Amino acid sequence: MTLYRPLHVGPLHLDGNLLFAPLSGVSTSPVRKLAREFGANLVYSEMVKAQGVVHGNIKSRHYLDMDPDEHPVGVQLADADAGALVEAAHAAIERGADLIDLNCGCPVKKVVKTECGAALLKDPALIGRIIAALRAAVPPHIPVTLKIRVGWDSSSKNGPEVAHIAEDNGAAMVTVHGRTREQLYSGQVDLSMIRLVKERVSIPVIGNGDILTPEDAKRMISETGCDGIMIGRGAVGNPWIFGRIRAVLEGRHAPEPGVEEKRRGLVRMFALLCASHGDYKGVRMMRKFVGWFTHGIPGGKRFRGDMMEIESPAELSAFIDFRFGVRMGGFDEDEPSEMSAALKPE
Ligand SMILES: Cc1cc2nc3c(=O)[nH]c(=O)nc-3n(C[C@H](O)[C@H](O)[C@H](O)COP(=O)(O)O)c2cc1C
Repeated sequence: MTLYRPLHVGPLHLDGNLLFAPLSGVSTSPVRKLAREFGANLVYSEMVKAQGVVHGNIKSRHYLDMDPDEHPVGVQLADADAGALVEAAHAAIERGADLIDLNCGCPVKKVVKTECGAALLKDPALIGRIIAALRAAVPPHIPVTLKIRVGWDSSSKNGPEVAHIAEDNGAAMVTVHGRTREQLYSGQVDLSMIRLVKERVSIPVIGNGDILTPEDAKRMISETGCDGIMIGRGAVGNPWIFGRIRAVLEGRHAPEPGVEEKRRGLVRMFALLCASHGDYKGVRMMRKFVGWFTHGIPGGKRFRGDMMEIESPAELSAFIDFRFGVRMGGFDEDEPSEMSAALKPE
C-alpha cells in the first residue's frame, strides 16, 4: 500500500501528503513555487507576526504576498493575542491564503519572550481559546491548523494534550516538530511523541523534523503513523526531495538528481526569482540560492565565489550553463579564477 496519499485538511483536499515547512528568511513566494513545481502538496508562508500585520508593518504585510501559481498555500501567524490573530487572518485570506496556521513552535528568544511561538505550549488553554476564536472568525472553507513542538522542555512534553485541546476547539490539522523548545535544533527528533499525538487526536497529524532523505520520510510515517510529513531544511536547495520521497513512498526507486537536473533546477529558481523581484534583485538573490544548491558539491565553494562577481542575468545564465553544461559531470575546486571573467561580455 502506498504511503503517498491524499490529505484532507478539513474542507481543503490535497492530492498528496508532502508539505514544505514555513522557514523564516527562506520560504518566500518564488521558493514556495519551486517546491510546488517539484511536488510539495502544500506550502507555507514564513511566520508572520499578527500584530505586525494589524499595525501595517510593511515587512509583515509583504510576507502575505502570494502568487496564483503557488496554491494551496498556508499563511502561518504568530501571536498570543486572539484579536490580532483574527484580524491578521482576515488580511491573509483576503490576499489568498488557503489555510491559517498558528505558530506554537518558534523557539527564538525574542518570540518566546512575548509569550508567542513555543511559549504558547505552556498555556494549552490559551491555544484552545485562540484556535476557537480563529475558527469562529474565518470562513468555513478555510482550515485553521497549528504547528507545535512536542513540549517546552523534557519535563513538559505536552504535545498530545495541546493537540487534543486544539482539535476540540476546531483545529483541522496539527503539525508536530519532534523536539522540545529547550532542544532548539539539537538532539534527536522524538518519534514516539509524534506517535502519541497521533493516537490522541482524529484530525490529521503531520510529522516533522530531520527528514533529509526519502528513507527518513518513510521512517517518520511508519514509526509514528502520521498522515503526512513536512520537510524544511531538507528541501532547501534540494526541491527534488519531494519527488524522490513520493517515489519511495509509492515503492519506486528514487535516484539522486543528476548534474543536468541540478542545472535545470537552478535555472528555474533563477527564472522564478527574476519574475518575482526583477532581474537586478534576482541576480543578487541568486548568490544566496546558489549556495544552497551547490552545498556539499565538490567545487561548490569556487562556484559560489565566482557567482559574487556576476552582475547581469545573461552572464549568470551563461555561467550556470558553463559550470553545469560544458563541465558536465563535476566541479573542480582548482578551476582557474579567470573563468568567470572569461564569461563576461566584452
Ligand atoms: C531557518 C529556519 C527558519 C524557520 N522558520 C520557521 C517559521 O517561520 N515557522 C515555523 O513554524 N517553523 C520555522 N522553522 C522550523 C521548521 O519549519 C521545521 O519545523 C524545523 O526546521 C524542523 O524540520 P526540518 O528538520 O525538516 O527542517 C524554521 C527553521 C529554520 C531552520
